[in-house]
Amino acid sequence: TCKHSFEGRMHESMEKIVVGFLGCGNIGCGVYKLLETYGAQIEENEGVGFEVRKILVRSLNKSRAWAIPSTLLTDRPEDVLDNPEIDMVMEFMGGEQPAASYMVRALENGKCVITANKMALATHWTQIVRAAREHAAGLYYEASVCGAVPIIRAINGSLQANRISSVMGIINGTTNYILTRMANEGAAYADVLADAQRLGLAEPDPTADVEGYDAAYKLSILSTLAFHRHVPVENVYREGITGITPLDVQCGKEFGLTLKLLAVAKEEDGEIQARVHPTFVPNSHPLANVNDAFNAVFVKGHACGEMMFYGRGAGDLPTASALVSDLICAAKAKRHELPAVSEAPCRMAEDWRCVHFVRMRAKDEPGVLSLITGGFAAEGVSIASMVQKGERDEAGFVQLIFLTHRAGEHAVRRALAKMDPAQASAESVIRVEE
Ligand code: HSE
Repeated sequence: TCKHSFEGRMHESMEKIVVGFLGCGNIGCGVYKLLETYGAQIEENEGVGFEVRKILVRSLNKSRAWAIPSTLLTDRPEDVLDNPEIDMVMEFMGGEQPAASYMVRALENGKCVITANKMALATHWTQIVRAAREHAAGLYYEASVCGAVPIIRAINGSLQANRISSVMGIINGTTNYILTRMANEGAAYADVLADAQRLGLAEPDPTADVEGYDAAYKLSILSTLAFHRHVPVENVYREGITGITPLDVQCGKEFGLTLKLLAVAKEEDGEIQARVHPTFVPNSHPLANVNDAFNAVFVKGHACGEMMFYGRGAGDLPTASALVSDLICAAKAKRHELPAVSEAPCRMAEDWRCVHFVRMRAKDEPGVLSLITGGFAAEGVSIASMVQKGERDEAGFVQLIFLTHRAGEHAVRRALAKMDPAQASAESVIRVEE
């Protein structure tokens, strides 16, 4: 007999760990379904069993994606948070409040908290981690970043022996779906968004995804863990994808570049940069081939080298996969590990260097090109390549596309700001990561 089945039998009579849920939408139903359909196997394999005892919901009578016994439902937070029978609380209400204060209260009551909520965790990081530390309670959040993809455990565990210099990822599935379709079909942003909303792949109010807030919460968590310094979400630079045009996507293609909403965190010379913005990556980069709603995170460590983690970042069962895995880890932990994050404040970079893609509308007449390149030169920005595209419009303007060498962000912006729109003006500036 194998060790696991032996241990499984050993645990047949053991007491189950009592779990309370905060919320029971699609993810909560996914967790319940996974525990109901796979719980016996988990018990057999892992030697730990779970019983869901109470589920906090807003509406007791709502129909749900999975049959949940109505006796478990309550609309009184104290039935979960202050219930002495409950050992572990799983939070998937979403949103900042009351989720954050409920998590703090559960931790203060000594309960282990397992959450999928990047917004509450990123915006109340210090308070939540402190409550866990002061009450020696477990805090588990693998599901908060990239759903089923085990990136938190990788950074906190498997890659511990590394000084991580960069974490770059596609950590929002909705925007990746939209950008993939724009690239494949040459379609306009608004048309693909409307289609994604019809298919249930984008929210009716898509702001959190398309403006990069969701990715910024996740990047705050990832960079905090990777660099062992708290990187508050307010320090994450953020730009969304709403201004992206099919022309930019097409021009990028002509330079061998693929457009992604990238979350980039780097540590250089003791300074941290954390930014979410549309970014071109060379077609040969592994992130360029991450399509549709998939997520991927590309990590560089001084010992491990380059690694990529790829998978489903959203959806009820992929998210439940990470949540139930955390539940098992928490149940088996002899001692709960907390994030290894120093109290010292992080130094954020105010400027950063990268290749810039600049699409300009410029007058097609002698001397204009030299004005533009002179403007770049005056700021120390060196041009790597340039093409002129298409026919002159009625006003005599054409499209010029520049790729710079690595250049400071501020220098590029200054050069563009000084240009005379009667001669040339930038229509889009997109960073390139290599
Ligand atoms: N809305 C997110 C996404 C999933 O599109 O990836 C939850 O963070």
